[in-house]
Amino acid sequence: MELADYLLHDEPFYRPVGNEVHLYEVAYAARMPVMLKGPTGVGKTRFIEHMAWRLKRPLVTVACHEDMTASDLVGRYLLDSAGTAWHDGPLAVAVRHGAICYLDEIVEARQDTTVVIHPLADDRRVLPIEKRNELVRAHPDFHLVISYNPGYQSVLKDLKESTKQRFGAIDFNYPAAEVEAEIVAHESGVDMAVAERLVRAGQRSRNLRGHGLEEGASTRMLIHAGRLIARGVSADEAFEMAVILPITDDPDIRSALREAVAALS
Ligand SMILES: Nc1ncnc2c1ncn2[C@@H]1O[C@H](COP(=O)(O)OP(=O)(O)O)[C@@H](O)[C@H]1O
Ligand SMILES: [Mg+2]
Repeated sequence: MELADYLLHDEPFYRPVGNEVHLYEVAYAARMPVMLKGPTGVGKTRFIEHMAWRLKRPLVTVACHEDMTASDLVGRYLLDSAGTAWHDGPLAVAVRHGAICYLDEIVEARQDTTVVIHPLADDRRVLPIEKRNELVRAHPDFHLVISYNPGYQSVLKDLKESTKQRFGAIDFNYPAAEVEAEIVAHESGVDMAVAERLVRAGQRSRNLRGHGLEEGASTRMLIHAGRLIARGVSADEAFEMAVILPITDDPDIRSALREAVAALS
């Protein structure tokens, strides 16, 4: 793993929605672990990329999943031509070299995996590597960040209280219409008038949340629609392909969404 590969050279575009940039900087200065909370596609990943660029720290991202083990994070011995050699996992790399480690969708990981971050997420700031009988003290620049979608919360998939209470949190949500339109226009290349229409259609889909839709169209989906429009696809077809078809298989909800967009044009 070459740490230099994890440095961001070009500024990732991030449009602040509230005071999150400042709050993150302060949390980083205090080395307080941070939890980014909110639905999918609202800018959590983009935000942490932007912050890593601002703070000039490498960013190591891990997409958490059910089958992830502590070894996937910490490291393991691997057999090579010279015999067995130790390979640091992504968390150990970040801890040793002072990167920001972003554990995306942390609730997907099993709780027995999640506990390996506990000694890193309190005043000890250490990572015990049992297989090597080693205790790694975190580099002073190391920072632990996790993301969490409260919407998917269930008794089976929730963070342990002892994990939650180690983090400060920043809430992410759909931004105000003008701000979201600015983001959609910037990211997709459509003009503001088109972006504003997409955002209004997106907001209508969000009203169907809990009435057949688990979640409304995210900013990410609206950007997808915008990119199709910017390449010459009609607005209706773009919304169909980028939002309506992926988000639901229910014919009634699909027609409700279509009506919502049609009413806008
Ligand atoms: N505040 C924002 N500033 C800039 N781009 C944003 C913002 N919010 C969302 N986006 C755009 O939406 C896309 C999806 O956001 P992402 O960070 O991947 O969402 P999440 O990690 O919350 O699922 C990004 O690729 C980016 O284009
Ligand atoms: Mg993400």
